[in-house]
Amino acid sequence: MNAARTPLVCGNWKLHKTIAESLELATAIKNAVGPVRDVEVAIAPSFTALHAVGKRLEGSPVKLAAQNCHWEDKGAFTGEVAPPQLADVGCHYGIIGHSERRQLFGELDAGVALKLRALAKHKIVPIVCIGETLTERDAGEALARVGAQLDAAVADLDLAIARTLVLAYEPVWAIGTGRVTSPAQAEEVHHFLRGRLDARFGANATGIRILYGGSVKPDNAALLLQQPNVDGFLVGGASLVADDFLRIVRYRTGNS
Ligand code: PGA
Repeated sequence: MNAARTPLVCGNWKLHKTIAESLELATAIKNAVGPVRDVEVAIAPSFTALHAVGKRLEGSPVKLAAQNCHWEDKGAFTGEVAPPQLADVGCHYGIIGHSERRQLFGELDAGVALKLRALAKHKIVPIVCIGETLTERDAGEALARVGAQLDAAVADLDLAIARTLVLAYEPVWAIGTGRVTSPAQAEEVHHFLRGRLDARFGANATGIRILYGGSVKPDNAALLLQQPNVDGFLVGGASLVADDFLRIVRYRTGNS
């Protein structure tokens, strides 16, 4: 955590919850988060619940996020959702390049780069996910892998867009497995990514937040957030239970 950047904690609800269940969870989060000022909170419900949850969050500091998008504004792309549609329901953030999209649905770096620009065009802040597999880590290739994913996403990127970006480092082997990276392991990668962003964008990179994701729970969040280059979290499983998510959000000096 670095004083220059307000930490962001984003809940990724993945393929969970009906509209009614989503509203219940969103309301609990909205009510609790009211007085929290030094951490930013976002939630990413499924597409079917975005509109209802967006309405419920009106007037609250909790921001709405989408879990994915297509890169075109419109067209014959059955089953896809476009950035202007996400803007229409009030999305502030858009998660792209999640490892589940990459691994299960064949998403490639080139598509992630297109989505990043498409979201930015509609004033939605991209949360770009990158992370190595266990095989890559065991082969000593973790830094090279995330470096390559980052480079592919931001190649030739406008400085104005770069300034607004959020990165999420999510080691694939830690997602949904209960196997969290140690704070030192996370910091090693975050420090590397910070250096890469600085080299690429200079002072424009100062505000770019690098979130950690992968089995973040109330009992490991505090130590992770103490790392100088961990600027918040992308939370999956623990974001589905209001109390767990809120305990993670409150792991921030000044909040009780
Ligand atoms: P997890 O998921 O917290 O359940 O590991 C994190 C993510 O996929 O963003």
